[in-house]
Parts: sequence; C-alpha cells; structure tokens
Amino acid sequence: MPADQPHGATAASQQPAAQQSAPTAAPAAPARLAQAALRDVPWEIGVAKPDPAIVVDGVTRTFGGLTAVSVDHLEIQRSGITGLIGPNGAGKTTLFNLLTGFDQPNSGTWSFDGRSLGKLSPHQVARLGVVRTFQLTKALSRLSVMQNMLLGAKDQRGEGFFRSLVPGVWRAQEKANTEKALDLLARFKLDAKKDDFAGTLSGGQRKLLEMARALMSDPKVVMLDEPMAGVNPALTQSLLGHVKDLREQGMTVIFVEHDMDVVRDISDWVVVMAAGKVIAEGPPESISQNRAVVDAYLGAHHDAPLTVDEEERVLAEAAAAIAREEGVSGEVLSSESTDREGTQR
Ligand SMILES: Nc1ncnc2c1ncn2[C@@H]1O[C@H](COP(=O)(O)OP(=O)(O)OP(=O)(O)O)[C@@H](O)[C@H]1O
Ligand SMILES: [Mg+2]
Repeated sequence: MPADQPHGATAASQQPAAQQSAPTAAPAAPARLAQAALRDVPWEIGVAKPDPAIVVDGVTRTFGGLTAVSVDHLEIQRSGITGLIGPNGAGKTTLFNLLTGFDQPNSGTWSFDGRSLGKLSPHQVARLGVVRTFQLTKALSRLSVMQNMLLGAKDQRGEGFFRSLVPGVWRAQEKANTEKALDLLARFKLDAKKDDFAGTLSGGQRKLLEMARALMSDPKVVMLDEPMAGVNPALTQSLLGHVKDLREQGMTVIFVEHDMDVVRDISDWVVVMAAGKVIAEGPPESISQNRAVVDAYLGAHHDAPLTVDEEERVLAEAAAAIAREEGVSGEVLSSESTDREGTQR
C-alpha cells in the first residue's frame, strides 16, 4: 500500500530542489550519487530500489504473543545511508539482530547481494561483509582498546585456529591487523588510548571504538544501532562525519537514530517502523509530514490534530479509566497523566 505522501503530491513533483540543481551545492559526490539513484523511487512501502544491497522478504519475529518484527518487503539501496527510525519498541533492534544472525526469525528470507543470509551465524554474516554495532555497546572493558580492535578482525573474519597453527602466517596477519587498527584508531581519534582498558573510555568513545572495530573486517554493509545515543554532544559531529565517511568509501549504511535532525542531515532514504511493520519509506523530507508516521509517534490514531479541549477530554477520560482500575480518585491521577512515557509503555 502506498505511504501517504505530503499534500497528495507525486514523488516526481516533490523532489527537493537541491537534487535537481547543478552539483555545485554542498553535498559531497557520494551523497549526491546516492540521492540521485533514489530520486525517482516512489515513496511507497516495500518499493524496489535501483540497486539493492539487502532485500528482506516476509521476515517475522514474535516473542510470546508479541509480534516484534513483521516486514513484508524491504530493499536497502547500495552505497547510501538509510535511516531506520520508529518509536521505542518498533522492532528496529530486533530487525538488526535478525539480519545479522544474532537472532532467528519465525519466518522469512533476506539476502545480501542476492545471497541468502538465513540461518547463518553472526560470524558467517560478517565474513560476507555485513556487520553491525549494538545499541548498548559491547566493547570488552577488560581488554585494551587495541585488543578490542584485533578481536574485531579475528572475530568477524572467522579466522583463528588453523591459521594460528602456522606462526609465520599468523604473525604477518597480526602485523597487518595491528597496522589497520592503528589507522582506524587514528581516524576515530582513539590512537592515544590504544593501551587503555576499554572500560576506562567514556560512553561516546566506546561507541567510536565499536564503530572502528566493526570496520576492521572491511565490511560492505554497516548497521549502526543508535550510534549517537549517550554520546557527548561534542563528539556527535565527528561521529556523524564518520558515518558519512562510510558512504564516501562506498559502504552501505543502515543506522537507527531517534534524533530527526540527525536523520535529516545524513540519510539518503528513511525507513519508518512501528509495531514491527514498515509504515513509511522515502527521502527524509517525505517523512515528517507523513500521517502514519506522525500517528505512530503520537501513539494516537485520529484523523485531525486534537484541539486543546479534545486533548484535555482525552486525558480526563484516560485518568478516569485508570482511576477505575486502580480504585483511586481520578483527580489524583489527572495531574500525573501527562507522563506520556509512563502511560505508553
Ligand atoms: N528477547 C526478547 N524477548 C521478549 N521481547 C523482546 C525481546 N527483544 C525485543 N522484544 C520486544 O520486541 C519489541 C521490539 O523491540 P526492539 O528492541 O526491537 O525495539 P526498538 O525499535 O529497537 O526500540 P528502541 O527504540 O527502544 O531501541 C519490544 O516490544 C520489545 O520489548
Ligand atoms: Mg533498539
């Protein structure tokens, strides 16, 4: 089913001016290429992309009675940055887990470059070039920064035992890996910390380390789960720069982010999930006006914006309903009912 397009516009008539004008304006070449490739793609859920790296079909994952993921069809364009957004619990992390072999679905298939990734372990998926970082960082705190990096290389390439039986090969490999790690650490401004325990790094530095570690295996697709979350604002710009760099190097990036300014800044395409499903996709400027998206974020399904009176009535009704359940006075609760976080969960 087509996603709502703002003002009933067609994809063609809504292309942003920046994409139509001469390429003298800001974005770097890879960004322009990625955006140009997607220029004529309709803003429809499940729409085919000109050059998809990842294709997902009928992937579902349930936990007990809860459907965490139910994606009919999704294509991720190669060498672009796709922002994956959606309210808490939408299924974004679960989808990452499934695509990278950290979890198995109830049904469905998905592929990278036409090769099915179903039933592969995270190692095998990584060896094919698809890596991810975690929402909660998984840097190993009792290892040094450098050891974390080297583990990334071995781990993700699935190398190890047999090679380690041949010392010469192993040493050459380790030297190459160490050099590569130093290069990456310098790029992420972590080289001065290479001998420190990862546990001593700040949250933001751990995120950087995780991203650097993911790059040790020369991936083709990088999935970043909230790379900016918990990162000191002073570091977010450089982190954003690193994400853009991945695109410069031809990588396909999928990243989960809650901050819409960040999403608008770096995404070539945005996929919106809610309650396990993809509810909209399109370029960043198509998303904020999209009714399904607005509804999903508000957690409400109404046909027109609420007036102040209506909102007060809805809140009063909710307070009264909770009061009936809890056996307390509605007035006591009505002052607390604005805590949306509490009532949504
Ligand atoms: N291992 C699990 N067992 C049971 N339920 C789970 C499990 N993992 C996820 N869920 C549930 O699946 C749903 C989707 O969760 P998921 O973590 O994928 O959401 P998300 O979009 O990443 O949210 P957030 O923005 O908060 O990170 C949620 O309702 C969550 O509680
Ligand atoms: Mg998540």
